[in-house]
Amino acid sequence: MIGLEFVLRMTPHVRFGRGAIKYAADGVKELGGKRVLVVSDRGVQKVGITDRLVDILRGGGLDVFVFSDVVPEPPVYVGDNAASMAKEVDADVIVGVGGGSAMDVAKAVAVLVTNGGKVEDYQGVNKVPSRGLPKIVIPTTAGTGCEVTWTAVFSNPEKKTKGGINSPYLYPELAILDPELTLSLPPLITASTGLDAFTHAIESYIGKAATTITKLFSISAMELIYNNIVKAVQSPDNIEAREKMLYGSFLAGVALSNAGVGAVHAMAYPLGSFYNIPHGAANSILLPYVMEFNKDVCVDEFKDIAYVMGEKVDMMPGWEVAGNVVDNLHLLKDKIGLNMTLSMLGVEWERIPELAEAALKVDRPIANNPRLITKDDIISIYEEAYGVEDFEEEDFEEV
Ligand SMILES: [Fe+2]
Repeated sequence: MIGLEFVLRMTPHVRFGRGAIKYAADGVKELGGKRVLVVSDRGVQKVGITDRLVDILRGGGLDVFVFSDVVPEPPVYVGDNAASMAKEVDADVIVGVGGGSAMDVAKAVAVLVTNGGKVEDYQGVNKVPSRGLPKIVIPTTAGTGCEVTWTAVFSNPEKKTKGGINSPYLYPELAILDPELTLSLPPLITASTGLDAFTHAIESYIGKAATTITKLFSISAMELIYNNIVKAVQSPDNIEAREKMLYGSFLAGVALSNAGVGAVHAMAYPLGSFYNIPHGAANSILLPYVMEFNKDVCVDEFKDIAYVMGEKVDMMPGWEVAGNVVDNLHLLKDKIGLNMTLSMLGVEWERIPELAEAALKVDRPIANNPRLITKDDIISIYEEAYGVEDFEEEDFEEV
């Protein structure tokens, strides 16, 4: 094809703004709903966000039911159980509120109710036969970007795998992005989810499927996140920083949904399925090492990223600029308290080849990585990220 060409898909209706959660009932009614199943997790419930949402929905005259058993890295049965509840209560709209896990479960429930079957039946690409119930998602973290993606990721504890339902029918009909909902996020979750969003931005920017328009989303996301993540971690009440982080993670979500991710995500998935390491933490450990591996094949892109990071790039040779980007990624992790290693999170050295085998099977991100990556390369990267220091895993419970 000659000339400019791209496809851009995303959530058709996005409402962004401080206090925007108050529009939730209007959103349900606009979609023709009367009976709502709210899908959330215990952390969101504990900080009072679920109750607030329920009050808003009931205040709008709607019947509301709550499924709050979503857990991080949700196993397939959580999606199946939530779908059973949606059928029992005869829900006509699903509202997911929380981090990526709650939103993913909500997205899956909506298609399970109308199509029948179980989560496992639809893991893969384009396996969902028809549209589901209308769904609204309300993120409480600035990270996953799943409010604008066509994916719902589930782990399968028996098979020790993790896989997404990928279907155009999973795009939510409405995303409500309210930065005030992210104010209650503790610093470590702010850091790990924020770095996940930064990883979406950087991997979609340098990936093979990047287009002119996805690059605009990616680079803006990088700029917003890089310049605000430290502020949001160090000053949790800084609403301006929270707002820019949520905006950045949304933009990165649009980019990742259209341009994909790369080897960081492929290698992070087995860490989640083998060791239950939260997605954001896994990505943050691997990011600088994978970028070190990639940097020589995307020197121009790394120059753009360096510019966003405030580097004076004009007079520097490409290799030096790319090296500075990798150094900055290590520094950024230190500044936000994410300087952990794989050994700190309990990864066993002798299982690294097994992890590498599993990472290589995450085929779409592997194929999208800008540099061809082999099993031996993956093993080397895991080994570099291994380290030896102590770390408290429980600091990473999802909110
Ligand atoms: Fe991610």
